Amino acid sequence: QQQRFLTALLQRMTLEEKIGQLNLLTSDMDVTGPFMKENYKQDILSGACGAIFNAYTPQYTRMLQDMAMKTRLKIPLLFGYDVIHGHKTIFPIPLGEACTWDMELMEKTARIAAEEASADGLHWTYSPMVDIARDPRWGRVAEGVGEDTWFGEQVAKAKVRGYQGTDLSAPNTVLACVKHFALYGAIEAGRDYNTVDMSRRQMYQFYLPPYKAAVRAGAATVMTSFNEVDGIPATGNHWLLTDLLRKEWGFKGFVVTDYTSINEMIPHGIVKNEYEAAELALKAGVDMDMQGSVYATQLKKLVEDKKVPVKLIDDAVMRILEAKYKLGLFQDPYRYCDTQRAAKVIMNGEFLQAARETAQKSIVLLKNEGQLLPLKSNQKIALIGPLGDAQRDMIGNWSAAGDFKKAVTLLQGLKAAGVNVSYAQGSDISADAQLMGKLGLQPGDADKLLQEALETARAADVVVLALGESQGMSGEAASRSDIGIPDAQKRLMEAVLQTGKPLVLALFNGRPMTLEWENAHIPAILETWFGGSQAGNAIADVLLGKFNPSGKLTMTFPRNTGQIPIYYNRKNTGRPMDANNKYTSKYLDVPNDPLFPFGFGLSYTTFAYGPVSLSARSMAMNGTLRATVTVSNTGNFDGYETVQLYLRDVTASVNRPLQELRGFKKIFLRKGERREVSFSISVDDLKFYDRDMQYVAEPGEFRVQIGPNSRDVQEVAFDLKP
Ligand code: IFM
Repeated sequence: QQQRFLTALLQRMTLEEKIGQLNLLTSDMDVTGPFMKENYKQDILSGACGAIFNAYTPQYTRMLQDMAMKTRLKIPLLFGYDVIHGHKTIFPIPLGEACTWDMELMEKTARIAAEEASADGLHWTYSPMVDIARDPRWGRVAEGVGEDTWFGEQVAKAKVRGYQGTDLSAPNTVLACVKHFALYGAIEAGRDYNTVDMSRRQMYQFYLPPYKAAVRAGAATVMTSFNEVDGIPATGNHWLLTDLLRKEWGFKGFVVTDYTSINEMIPHGIVKNEYEAAELALKAGVDMDMQGSVYATQLKKLVEDKKVPVKLIDDAVMRILEAKYKLGLFQDPYRYCDTQRAAKVIMNGEFLQAARETAQKSIVLLKNEGQLLPLKSNQKIALIGPLGDAQRDMIGNWSAAGDFKKAVTLLQGLKAAGVNVSYAQGSDISADAQLMGKLGLQPGDADKLLQEALETARAADVVVLALGESQGMSGEAASRSDIGIPDAQKRLMEAVLQTGKPLVLALFNGRPMTLEWENAHIPAILETWFGGSQAGNAIADVLLGKFNPSGKLTMTFPRNTGQIPIYYNRKNTGRPMDANNKYTSKYLDVPNDPLFPFGFGLSYTTFAYGPVSLSARSMAMNGTLRATVTVSNTGNFDGYETVQLYLRDVTASVNRPLQELRGFKKIFLRKGERREVSFSISVDDLKFYDRDMQYVAEPGEFRVQIGPNSRDVQEVAFDLKP
């Protein structure tokens, strides 16, 4: 029925109407790229635009849909938006949420985002972002789940399931869009929009699997990336969009560009003008042009000049119409514009509770010397720092429709918990006037702020420093060459340290930071990311021991920027580091290991790991193996522990990493409780792209590593038999 309806519709469409379906324009409600087209409403009315992004609310989308209903064929508009970590109820930034290591929860937050977005007029989210990233200078690491491929695959699947559910025609589901295809996370030097250069092996092994997992999970759409892939911009890359995505992976949905990516192939130096750009993009496999108007202005001429067959345009149109059909828009173009549903659904108590729980679980305890945390409820707390009461920062970057005025700051959270707290801002985010300007922040009087802070600190029993980045310091177009705490805040830290008061550092940030000094001088460090609508309550819960922190990092924290790129699944090299041998792979001025490794995170309790045992010391190609460890809660609090399984292939036809995450179990243990945790290892866990790029497992020695993080593992060997 769908096919019959859409084929008949396509037959009635003029070439102009077809091209209109490929044209995606931004509304003026939000700006997410370098330029805006003023007359987008005119384009809707004339049938020259088939989809709109950056527009939401039932009223506004209804008004625009009304315009589409006035066109000759009444083809409904598709409404897309960056619903990245929640729509109205904002969850922690994805990098923070990943630290929950809770796949069910991550699926649930996508489900809630879809519930809210679809109630607010939206059909399509530009999420999940699954770019693997090993360079924290890149601001967009905030939007992804970190450096690990296997972990990224699991989250990609969970997110697609959460957004799309099992039935896209249900009015509370939205189309997912896996982005940015591909390799955007590997831009050189972490500078946004920069060049990527990578071997096919590296792509297949480490960077492509999360996109593929999202596609295989049924992601309805894919967004191209800004960068080049093997010398050709992703948006004009036939190998990437057609050979790999459609032919090899079987992707059936539609491909949209990123903001003006077709136009950007001109400065990339691949095409001379928009005419050539449109031809290259369409032939490569791009269906929808985001904001570039290149298809709108060039495709007709390309058809007339016989450069582009209409069949290619028809195929692209069909894929877009199919998505609209699946959403039920041809039956009722207004089914997502329901003011009553929006009022009932958006930011309801249950969603806010989920936001609080997610934020609690995303918090990572990095250090807790002398059990300074949790704080005692009778302690007088001085909360100091520019992020202690900064509402806008709580919901972080890419919180699109999020209303920061509804976000809970740490000061508010502590007050709501009923503790004795006094607050002083202490410093600006940065002493750099230019940066402050870019962030839209007004500088204060540095001396006065500092004096107030010192007085507040002196009058307290314990100081909580709320420091880090303002939300605009990570995210898109927010790369940093120095990922430390900015100088103005460093000075504040040093001065407060002199008061001799016990210090807790609560970090707010969208990326791993360099924290050598802080780690050396501050007894307790809590990574809270940008925790979303309920950030302040969640952090207060953790500080006060109402929630025992359980988050584990999914991206390595380097000691300094010189160590970047740094990631846990590194290879051995031919000259592995040996401190006593000059001619081995190391630095003169910094150790090789990071400050906080992948998978790391402390708890208020302690967990002891028994010896790791294997069900056998060898495994057949079609067999399985069980690895078991007993974990005991040996401390004074109940708590979660994430037991991690890594594997190493010792000798193979291509060199393999020293460890790769292949499983984890998140368990809850009451104090004194112990549990046996076991993992089943099959041959699929041992596969990789071999010398001939075949995905196989090779016989030989493997090592199983189990532990609380990627560094502190116990290793046991087994053989894979031919
Ligand atoms: O979805 C985003 C993308 O991640 C970056 N450029 C703009 C798009 C739409 O807002």
